[in-house]
Amino acid sequence: MLLKDKVTIITGAASLRGIGWATAKRFADEGARVALLDIDAAGAERAAKEIGAQHRGYGCDVRNEQACRDAVQAVLRDFGQVDVLVNNAGVSQAHRLLDSSQDDWDLVMDVSARGAFNMSRSVVPHMRERRSGAIVNIGSVAAQRGGGILGGPHYAAAKGASQTLAKSMARELAPDGIRANAIAPGLVDTDLLIGKLDDAGKGRVAESTPLGRVAVPLDIANACLFLASDLSAFVTGIVLDVNGGLHIH
Ligand SMILES: NC(=O)c1ccc[n+]([C@@H]2O[C@H](COP(=O)([O-])OP(=O)(O)OC[C@H]3O[C@@H](n4cnc5c(N)ncnc54)[C@H](O)[C@@H]3O)[C@@H](O)[C@H]2O)c1
Repeated sequence: MLLKDKVTIITGAASLRGIGWATAKRFADEGARVALLDIDAAGAERAAKEIGAQHRGYGCDVRNEQACRDAVQAVLRDFGQVDVLVNNAGVSQAHRLLDSSQDDWDLVMDVSARGAFNMSRSVVPHMRERRSGAIVNIGSVAAQRGGGILGGPHYAAAKGASQTLAKSMARELAPDGIRANAIAPGLVDTDLLIGKLDDAGKGRVAESTPLGRVAVPLDIANACLFLASDLSAFVTGIVLDVNGGLHIH
């Protein structure tokens, strides 16, 4: 049991087909007690129930600082501690530069970057007191390759911000016993793809991926498990590529 009795907050975890929920389930299987946060409060509660009675769902719009503080306080009231934070909430848009509006920029940046900032600032005082904690930000291969299939420039920039935020938190918080890392997934088969990529498109991505397929949410959940648990006790400030070998060629 790699996360026995560890309390984990995962944002953007309401979709049963998403990375957040797969991570919640994987962590629960390793003994964690999981708080699933999402802008869709009812969905988060349903998603938690699906995993088991000891897990809980909370409504939280990560763009809103007070909402993040309130959600973390509610988790502390219900569970007594927070050991792990996974900043997973994200919105993707494929709009090109000149087709993106101010509102597009605000939405995409605010959920991925400001959201990770708000949530981290809400849990760090508590982690600092306990001199222990692990934070994982979900970035994207889009940050490394300049967008592409699922994301326009604003999405790539938001994911770059999330990855760099992890790195700078790692530097600042290491003396407090808090580790911070990021994951850069390649294409993952979730609802984020709906309306952006059909089966033929997924097939083309799979063909150009050395391991010959697109990722499933569990691929990312397993990487999260590594970075959240003591398996990675001496790892901080990294961006872990989970992309089937996309960078080989
Ligand atoms: N699917 C991919 O190919 C892929 C690749 C690289 C990175 N990612 C990233 O992985 C993360 C999870 O995405 P997914 O593919 O599971 O998609 P998803 O759409 O299933 O999950 C995103 C979740 O975030 C929630 N959310 C949106 N706005 C929110 C807000 N303001 N506050 C709280 N929650 C909010 C949504 O309700 C949803 O449940 C995202 O950050 C995404 O950018 C996905």
